[in-house]
Amino acid sequence: MTQAQLKIHPDAEALAQAAALRLIALIKEAIAARGRCHVALSGGSTPKRLYQLLAESKYQDDLDWSRIEIWFGDERCVPADHADSNYRMAREALFEHVALPAANIHRMEVALGQVRQAASRYANLLCQRLPLIDSMPCFDVILLGMGADGHTASLFPATCILQESTRPVAAVYVDKLQTWRVSLTYPVLNQGRHLLMLIAGADKAARIHEIHAVNPTKTVHPIQRIRARGQVEWYLDNAAAALLGDKIS
Ligand code: 6PG
Repeated sequence: MTQAQLKIHPDAEALAQAAALRLIALIKEAIAARGRCHVALSGGSTPKRLYQLLAESKYQDDLDWSRIEIWFGDERCVPADHADSNYRMAREALFEHVALPAANIHRMEVALGQVRQAASRYANLLCQRLPLIDSMPCFDVILLGMGADGHTASLFPATCILQESTRPVAAVYVDKLQTWRVSLTYPVLNQGRHLLMLIAGADKAARIHEIHAVNPTKTVHPIQRIRARGQVEWYLDNAAAALLGDKIS
């Protein structure tokens, strides 16, 4: 784990507001430099408030949505309108409230029984639409969360996707959840220019302590195995950082 930038905030709301400002700055930087910004959204519950903030006029008016391409870090194997769908969460929190062209929203179309085809289609689309560096799609910004078990995206402990070293997207069966997922893989995460890790809640504190205080150089947990060439910033709330003590920068 390269020297991580830890940004600790009093609570999840302050984390979301700080992450929104950072994300907006990175989006504007990418658009100024390359004319477009390719962002991979995280799933789960933590980023929902960030997405809601981006939909507020004081934030959304600051962005040229026609130049923003929205992708997903992972998706559950459920219909797009299912309560567990990462796409549905982002649609309700953000897409329905901003002038984002429908063509700029790239949902992982994961249907039961066709997960590998969905992963392959998504990988091909990434390779067609994103700039390639060493033949790997290069995101401007990747948002990631972390589960209490140290997973990120759908890179869960003891799953075969952790060994994926060439494809940018893969399907994975997660035994502990008894379900299929489609997820970005380490090769494409490592190619990202900026990774924002958004982690809140007391249930993450033990793992954050292990990653940043006990074993900062180890690669025990999936999130620790990311070796991004770009900048990695950890946005934590006090609850998730509670065991870090003087580690707080
Ligand atoms: C998902 C996410 C996953 C998530 C973590 C944290 O699809 O569930 O991609 O990696 O970020 O599980 O989830 P919370 O933000 O809900 O704690």
